[in-house]
Amino acid sequence: MIQRFFSHKALPITLIILSLSIIGFLVYTQSASRILSPTPDNELAKEATPEEIPGTVRMIFVGDIMLDRGVASSVRRNFNNDFHVLFEHLDMLREGDIVFGNLEGPISDQGRNVGSRFSFRMDPATLPALQRAGFTIFSLANNHMGDWSMDAFTDTMRRLRDTGILFTGAGMTTAEAEQATIIEKNGIRIGFIGVTDVGPNWLAATESRPGILLASHPRIEEIITRAAAETDILVVTPHWGDEYVPFNNRQQTLARMFIDAGADMVIGHHPHVIQDIEYYNEKLIAYSLGNFIFDQYFSEETMRGMILDITVDAHGIVNMTTLTSVQERTYKPITVRPLIASDIVRRRITVPSLCPPASGTGENKWLFPVDRNRSLGNYIPPTLTHMPNRVETRGTATCLTTEAADALEKMFLDMNNAGLKPVMTSGYRSFDIQRMVYTDWLSKQGDILPEFPSVAEPGHSEHQLGTTVDIKSLQTPDFSYAAFVRSPEYAWLQNNAHRYGFVQSYTEGNEFAQGYIAEPWHWRYIGRERATAFRDSSLTLNHWLAQFLVTDPM
Ligand code: DAL
Ligand code: ZN
Repeated sequence: MIQRFFSHKALPITLIILSLSIIGFLVYTQSASRILSPTPDNELAKEATPEEIPGTVRMIFVGDIMLDRGVASSVRRNFNNDFHVLFEHLDMLREGDIVFGNLEGPISDQGRNVGSRFSFRMDPATLPALQRAGFTIFSLANNHMGDWSMDAFTDTMRRLRDTGILFTGAGMTTAEAEQATIIEKNGIRIGFIGVTDVGPNWLAATESRPGILLASHPRIEEIITRAAAETDILVVTPHWGDEYVPFNNRQQTLARMFIDAGADMVIGHHPHVIQDIEYYNEKLIAYSLGNFIFDQYFSEETMRGMILDITVDAHGIVNMTTLTSVQERTYKPITVRPLIASDIVRRRITVPSLCPPASGTGENKWLFPVDRNRSLGNYIPPTLTHMPNRVETRGTATCLTTEAADALEKMFLDMNNAGLKPVMTSGYRSFDIQRMVYTDWLSKQGDILPEFPSVAEPGHSEHQLGTTVDIKSLQTPDFSYAAFVRSPEYAWLQNNAHRYGFVQSYTEGNEFAQGYIAEPWHWRYIGRERATAFRDSSLTLNHWLAQFLVTDPM
């Protein structure tokens, strides 16, 4: 059975605090994990129907919802591109009179990627799925709302309005963004104010420009006080704090300021982990609900989120159940169970680098002359950066040296802004990965090997340097030479890549000298100056680069 803890109907508020500190220990130590059946009449539904307490409103809160990147590709791969499947174990959401989540990015097919380190934009097909799941209100005041420019942001507001889902923390003008979103239910007026303390500051609403509401707004207290006067219950819902760690002093200071200004509860998100709950002047502060749906598979802490199931009357909370949802590897939440103490973050969660640790020494990264006697062996470049968070990638070998990574990110951003859709399909390959790629290629050859191979033997690939990328076009997903060479992405690269430091290693007509077929997708970072100088040379890249060979690389 589902435990209803922190349950304190008609109890003095002091008991709420006691329930946290004393009973809390007992309930925290129980972990009645179970899988909810996808049928609407599961036990949880029966136990906590809103009719139990007349004259009240039941509100359900979840944290960050991000249905792009890994979630979108999982839905494509595992659920036949049907976003509804993500919510099939979450019938309990529909039992709320009000169901809230933080929408971690725009829902749109418009705008341009402004090039955040991580840029999210959710497919419009997510909207009917979110609506059917039960969501009635989203906060749009968060650090990803501007990821795809003003157009995607305003399109998101338009789409939500058309769908009938409310939002808070954003508006077409500052007056709208500052106005609490008020829901009147069962005679109770409940207001929501979403704010972000983690930017983007450029998206702050002005009198004439759409935007979001910042926690640093100079009149934030006044905005809250005014909203409190217009409502019975005021929820302030900030996007704040530091990622992957317990709550910080600034969150506590802000929360207390919000409550002093008139908030009845402060329910936060952004850190990707569940942070503590505490009470201040008898008002609830939940510092971070953590991830509800997000593609951060690298730790248990980032694969779960707190669900707050709160029943209020006109004076405050009359009942609260703290639950934990757990995502499986496909990012579908499959379990909803009572929150336990160990769900709350107590340490820093380390975000793994998918790039191998540095191990190379003495390598001159500019150079890898065509020399069959020289092998890179297990060389690992010293400063590898994982790319999927920075540019569109496919595949697994997606690390580059920091310098090449910065240059590629800049180049992809400019390509995106020019309406192009490049995708990085390969970057750093270890000796072992190159061996796999080579063996795979070999297995597809006939009895007689082609005169010019299209894959280097392990030890001899530029990909082992961490400076080389394969770039393909999402507009011509056929990875053949013929298709890519006709793509607008290739035309753009030919004219512009050198300005970012990239050159094409294997060009048409030079097969004999370079030893490989022409590869329009294969670009190597050699620095801007060298890339520009190389354009005027008639040598193959590796012969031209040999002039800079000053030390034996291995
Ligand atoms: N395709 C190029 C030659 C490589 O494997 O490095
Ligand atoms: Zn390549």
